[in-house]
Amino acid sequence: MTIQWFPGHMAKARRQVTEKLKLIDIVYELVDARIPQSSRNPMIDEIISNKPRLVLLNKVDKADPRVTEQWLSYYREKGIRAIAIDAQAGKGMKQIVSASNELLKEKFDRMKAKGIVKPRAIRAMIVGIPNVGKSTLINRLASKKIAKTGDRPGITQAQQWIKVGKELELLDTPGILWPKFEDPIVGYKLATTGAIKDTIINLQDIAVYALRFLTEHYPEALKARYGLENIPEEIVDLFDAIGTKRGCLMPGGLIDYDKTAELILRELRTDKIGTFTFDFPQEFNEKVSE
Ligand code: G4P
Repeated sequence: MTIQWFPGHMAKARRQVTEKLKLIDIVYELVDARIPQSSRNPMIDEIISNKPRLVLLNKVDKADPRVTEQWLSYYREKGIRAIAIDAQAGKGMKQIVSASNELLKEKFDRMKAKGIVKPRAIRAMIVGIPNVGKSTLINRLASKKIAKTGDRPGITQAQQWIKVGKELELLDTPGILWPKFEDPIVGYKLATTGAIKDTIINLQDIAVYALRFLTEHYPEALKARYGLENIPEEIVDLFDAIGTKRGCLMPGGLIDYDKTAELILRELRTDKIGTFTFDFPQEFNEKVSE
């Protein structure tokens, strides 16, 4: 798997985020609830430093609710405030405002003690990797459509504040940070959930990863969707079984593996097989304690 990242591009994005940090009180770190760890920029802690932060697990409608609970406890134990949201449906929006108020209470109390009455609304910025739902969340909070600036470098425009009720102001342009994955599994997770384009990693490889993952963690959902009594041990046999059931065949009756891979990934991404989480907090706890 060869993936080209552009260090210059990443450095620029990082610089832009660092610049904007000066303008705000709190960072909303948006991650994908299906891959809370794999959808983070690995430098984020260093970039944000000691700025108050609220982690938002977005697309919670597509994640395994049981594992989302585990992630919320994981963050709680680490003393990090986290909320599960669905920016598309607008779930969790009120909680964002109330959690921000709580997180900044001390700062504003200190200001009050110094005789400075809370002078203004809380200022926030959304930060996250491409496709995690930054524009969707901005539009939700703004209750109107704000033009997407795109993930392209070189687009500069005047910074605008969006008013969210009386208590919150949000920068209209999010901070875009890139995922970075030396670990190929992280790449597969990003591809499986559609965070990176299918052209970056071979489609069949992504589907093989996804099928192995579902076989290990969610076998019943896989069996139910494709009417399988048992899941074959060999991945090629599993491809054959699904391809045959769904008529993904080439002339002559051979299995069309590209078509089968495409079907599996489409159904997985549109929640036809079920709602799944691909990162488990235990994996990361273990890594930390190693
Ligand atoms: P970005 O700015 O971070 O790059 O992400 P963006 O808001 O463009 O969202 C990327 C995709 O994720 C969009 O889908 C968007 O609708 C979807 N999305 C965002 N938040 C949620 C959520 O909480 N739940 C679900 N299920 N989906 C969410 P798209 O297919 O690219 O476009 P669209 O046609 O759906 O708008």
